[in-house]
Amino acid sequence: MTIRIVPSILSADFAKLGDEIAMCEAGGADWIHIDVMDGCFVPNLTFGRKVIETVRRLTKLPLDVHLMVVQPEKYFDDFATAGANGLTIHAEASPHLQRQLVRIRELGCRPGVALNPSTPLSAVSEVVPDLGLLLIMTVNPGFGGQEFIPYAVDKVRRARLLLDEFQSAAVIEADGGINRETIAEVWRAGADTFVAGNAIFSAPDPRGEISALRELCVVSV
Ligand code: DX5
Ligand code: ZN
Repeated sequence: MTIRIVPSILSADFAKLGDEIAMCEAGGADWIHIDVMDGCFVPNLTFGRKVIETVRRLTKLPLDVHLMVVQPEKYFDDFATAGANGLTIHAEASPHLQRQLVRIRELGCRPGVALNPSTPLSAVSEVVPDLGLLLIMTVNPGFGGQEFIPYAVDKVRRARLLLDEFQSAAVIEADGGINRETIAEVWRAGADTFVAGNAIFSAPDPRGEISALRELCVVSV
């Protein structure tokens, strides 16, 4: 049974990033999620290569990089060199999805595709064999701390059926509004990997919150 809890540093305190990453490690985080936003694909700007390099120096945990940018291919080489382990691009920003997934794999990273809440699952149905990760957005991307969209659970369920149909071993990751109230339902629907920003970094005990989220999946099997 694989359950990955993946803190999103979008909600971390950047004045003490080293401590925040160390806390994630101590709490048993599986990967670190890095949200790259360009102010064009999404209405917010965050970080790029420099931050990926910095986080790479701070931890050995896999770096799960979520590119919310137009023309994501412009950044593949740079981010892979900076230390990314996974590169997830949005189907809405990637007309040549198949070529881009192959390129990400060539660079030694896990190739992922993210789908906005309004994008149908069929956007990836022709590229399942090239998928290493399918990211189902459970909020509209752009900001941390937004409210989970309940009907996205059904999309996770259908995503699991789609991957099963192809006997795909790709990861199903859910991102947005994952917290103690929502995680178990998304896990039961078939996701195995959970990004959480606000739920972890705003918790009274952020370290304990990572195990609390994991435990909610374990007990709801
Ligand atoms: C949203 C980002 C998320 C964000 C999640 O656009 O892709 O990764 O950090 O934050 P929470 O868990 O606070 O919804
Ligand atoms: Zn994200």
